[in-house]
Amino acid sequence: MEESENYFTKPLNLFEYEQQAQKCLSPMVWDYYASGAWDEITLRDNHAAFDRIKLRPRVLVDVSDRHLTTTILDQPLQMPLLIAPMAFQCLAHPEGELATAKAASSAGVGMVLSTLSTKSLEEVAQIYYSNYSQTPNPPLWFQLYIHRDRNLTRALIERAYTAGYQALCVTVDAPVLGKRERDTRNQFTLPPGLQLANLVTISGLNIPDQEGESGLFTYFAQQLDPSVTWRDLEWLQSISPLPLAIKGILRGDDAVRAVECGAKVIIVSNHGGRQLDGAIASFDALAEIVKAVDGRAEVIVDGGIRRGTDIIKALALGAKAIMVGRPVLWGLAVDRQAGVNHVIEILHNELDLAMALSGCAKLEDIDSSLLVLGN
Ligand SMILES: Cc1cc2nc3c(=O)[nH]c(=O)nc-3n(C[C@H](O)[C@H](O)[C@H](O)COP(=O)(O)O)c2cc1C
Repeated sequence: MEESENYFTKPLNLFEYEQQAQKCLSPMVWDYYASGAWDEITLRDNHAAFDRIKLRPRVLVDVSDRHLTTTILDQPLQMPLLIAPMAFQCLAHPEGELATAKAASSAGVGMVLSTLSTKSLEEVAQIYYSNYSQTPNPPLWFQLYIHRDRNLTRALIERAYTAGYQALCVTVDAPVLGKRERDTRNQFTLPPGLQLANLVTISGLNIPDQEGESGLFTYFAQQLDPSVTWRDLEWLQSISPLPLAIKGILRGDDAVRAVECGAKVIIVSNHGGRQLDGAIASFDALAEIVKAVDGRAEVIVDGGIRRGTDIIKALALGAKAIMVGRPVLWGLAVDRQAGVNHVIEILHNELDLAMALSGCAKLEDIDSSLLVLGN
């Protein structure tokens, strides 16, 4: 962010970050980050779902002293926020995942690193753990895509454990990649110099250049395993020394099945509208899943969360924490680590203000009575 650019006004909210970021990114990268599958119905509905639900604030509550701290898997968070796993962050800025890690760690929020990161999981862990400035320390998780090559999959888990990751986030909504037509049109690929930092060294795998198709789509078709079932989840549970968080659940019965396989966290998500277009907005799926899980696992939701009021609504429906995706990339593109820190700060301040205006001094005060439900 150039201070000297006097036309520049620091973004006030996450929507303004999005507008600024579009000016900083090439059309191919912008499309890859911003797009959803097919007609992008689910992408749009993810945020619209929050707007459909209204709040019923309480008044005359002493909110002079407010607390936003919480835990997930007994791991501390300065606010109920983790950064969602997102591939290829070096497309936004050369520091990529390292800048995101510094921001998350210093702000005391969680971070989930993608299998498809452009910095290695070891480098990211090293930076994350050396940038702690909040106590107690927030958690770093590793997101796993199950590859056809199970030895490779197992090696990733072992490396994540050795590097100090504290949970394994297994993404289950991508047996094949959703069709993001903007990426097909652009023949999306990684520019020279960027690579799959976790995979290229051990397996030589990288995103292929593919005539008439997104290279990522081709990578998924070639390397990821569409035959994965609940039995593979049981296998992961049996070999993983880390607790499992299952990401991409949209139905109560699937959530129950995941809990029965040993999952400690259920992540209600439709992959930011990037997989099955027309799928339910993740916020709309939350209540059913919280009810089905019935306290046997903690529930996280992501997709379309852009305001502190969205976070209040998610917590009111029973989420323990939320994850944010694209706005982090917008912060990274606009102002590297400082941009990501500012995005987190905006969400923190908005949640704090929304709690005060709703009559909630602490997160435990947020319950379903704050929402207008059932119409
Ligand atoms: C550019 C981009 C890359 C993503 N890469 C991954 C990934 O590697 N693994 C994964 O589980 N989810 C991935 N996601 C999905 C996010 O983890 C998250 O579910 C989604 O972005 C949340 O929605 P939001 O962007 O509206 O906040 C990606 C999302 C985006 C936008």
